[in-house]
Amino acid sequence: MKVIITKDYEEMSSKAFEIMKEVVTENPAAVLGLATGSTPLGLYAKMAADHRENGTSYKQVRTVNLDEYEGLDATSDQSYVYFMRENLFRHLDIDLKNTNIENGKAKDPEEECARYNALLEVMRQDVQVLGIGSNGHIAFNEPGTPFEAETHVVALTESTIKDNSRLFARVEDVPRRAYTMGPKNIMNAKKILILANGANKAKAVYGLVKGEITESLPASILQRHPDCTLVCDEAAASLL
Ligand code: GLP
Repeated sequence: MKVIITKDYEEMSSKAFEIMKEVVTENPAAVLGLATGSTPLGLYAKMAADHRENGTSYKQVRTVNLDEYEGLDATSDQSYVYFMRENLFRHLDIDLKNTNIENGKAKDPEEECARYNALLEVMRQDVQVLGIGSNGHIAFNEPGTPFEAETHVVALTESTIKDNSRLFARVEDVPRRAYTMGPKNIMNAKKILILANGANKAKAVYGLVKGEITESLPASILQRHPDCTLVCDEAAASLL
């Protein structure tokens, strides 16, 4: 794993943007695997600014997102489909028809997971952006998820519900279940770009880079990926 340590969030976002821009410049029809959360917001702002100022086009780009809360769809401002439109897609010339995410309101969750897995098979990510949970989760793959798992529905852990509650009015409002790509779908990406900032991620980042490869810390599987870059700020890197 390549590790790039930056002084702060701003520099982390700039480095991440450089990597993203290279992917899109090399292949204007790239498949981008995208993530939600506060970590990639700086990267998305830089993609939007670059599109505005330099005209970098996303017309042919296709995207696949990692995860979505069960029970939420674009009508909810807490859904990840809403998050992506607000924070990235509406600032680019991307065709929304080319953007993909699990349907949180699907009637048959098993069928929805099968649909998403089939889609990912024909849309291998040229790059997959990831954040990391404070317990070492990637997407919504909580500790204990089998490395072989593909898209599935998960019961979120208390720690994730608590972490994510800051974005909801009340902790009771955080959905208890979510759709997520599995570690296997993530590992299938040609390139991984994982971002982390802040001291509350330091333990997870240590496990990601230097810990034992174990399903107890889902991100540790990335040590086995042939092209994985971690960009993190000094606070997140403090235990390395
Ligand atoms: C959520 C998302 C993850 C994200 C993580 C960290 O649980 N499902 O994809 O990486 O939170 O979020 P943040 O970037 O806000 O710290």
